[in-house]
Amino acid sequence: MMMMMMMKRITQSMTVMWQKGLKKSMPSTSRAVNTLKHNHCYQIRKSPPLVSLDFPDIWTPNSLDYDCSPIQKGSNEQTAAVIDGKSISEEIISGIASEVSRMKESIGKVPGLAVILVGQRRDSQTYVRNKIKACEEAGIKSLMAELPEDCTEDEILSALSSFNENPSIHGILVQLPLPKHLDEEKILNMVSLEKDVDGFNPLNMGNLAMRGREPLFIPCTAKGCIELLLRSGVEIMGKKAVVIGRSNIAGLPTSLLLQRHHATVSILHALSKNPDQITRQADIVVTAVGVPNLVRGHWLKPGAVVIDVGTYPVEDPSSEFGYHLVGDVCYEEALGVASAVTPVPGGVGPMTIAMLLSNTLDSAKRAYDIT
Ligand code: GUN
Repeated sequence: MMMMMMMKRITQSMTVMWQKGLKKSMPSTSRAVNTLKHNHCYQIRKSPPLVSLDFPDIWTPNSLDYDCSPIQKGSNEQTAAVIDGKSISEEIISGIASEVSRMKESIGKVPGLAVILVGQRRDSQTYVRNKIKACEEAGIKSLMAELPEDCTEDEILSALSSFNENPSIHGILVQLPLPKHLDEEKILNMVSLEKDVDGFNPLNMGNLAMRGREPLFIPCTAKGCIELLLRSGVEIMGKKAVVIGRSNIAGLPTSLLLQRHHATVSILHALSKNPDQITRQADIVVTAVGVPNLVRGHWLKPGAVVIDVGTYPVEDPSSEFGYHLVGDVCYEEALGVASAVTPVPGGVGPMTIAMLLSNTLDSAKRAYDIT
């Protein structure tokens, strides 16, 4: 009782202080309105400072055993179906190609995509090459700006503004990651909202996160993961889903999209304790961290569906471009436990490209006001 009375007195004195402060800083008309309309208590409540998410999510070897054990490899019988992202994406791209040719016949226009590639990263060069090739297959016009590793922010902004103003371009993509000296946020914010086919503008991402709101574009990797689940007949509604990784490109939008599909979603990151115990409860596991063999067979519930977004380049002189990609999942082990698994390569990667073309087509339809 005593405590409550003291609290009340403190609150009252804070209120008086707030009102005094307010009188000093407010113009007299607002002060009058404030006094007339809101003759009740005000308290200053400062928000706590936001904890930065800028430090990198580094998965420490302490908590993990990266080795995909050769003893377990192949020792289990395969229970899992392989989700063939390559053939599903080919089907989608062929549908897009038909729509593009109909558009060309009816209004004499085709969708256009512009890609900005900065630097010499081999993996980024491969992704961009594949995106341009897919555009050609679908009849989508593509433009590319290639800039050197040490280019200035102004050079990128100038390429961006010419793509923003070009009416034959309906989608703009800045291949990530950018070299460290460049301000990614500032550059991505320059992409016109109507051409943000990556869906990385905070307004698109925010609308994806909010109930009753519709983003103009959904990020391609996330959309590709959901499309793989749906086209493989996996029910999402009411299922427990775990997303490993919280990147803006993949983990975050995938977790938001799974929520939209009514899954119960948990997000794991490098500081999560006992991640294997959490993944073992999941019906659907999506992993997107770029740590080879992070997800072992014993991390999975029997019958789970596993979507591997991870791509980690491993030196390989025998392959065409000097490296090959490996995923986050210990594939051989997962095949013996899960009901369905995506391979790397040939799983999510081609779907990301198909979704990019689909977003570009949608953007062109919106621009030309056709359905
Ligand atoms: N780098 C890796 N994935 C992506 C993607 O989906 N979009 C862009 N812009 N860069 C990427």
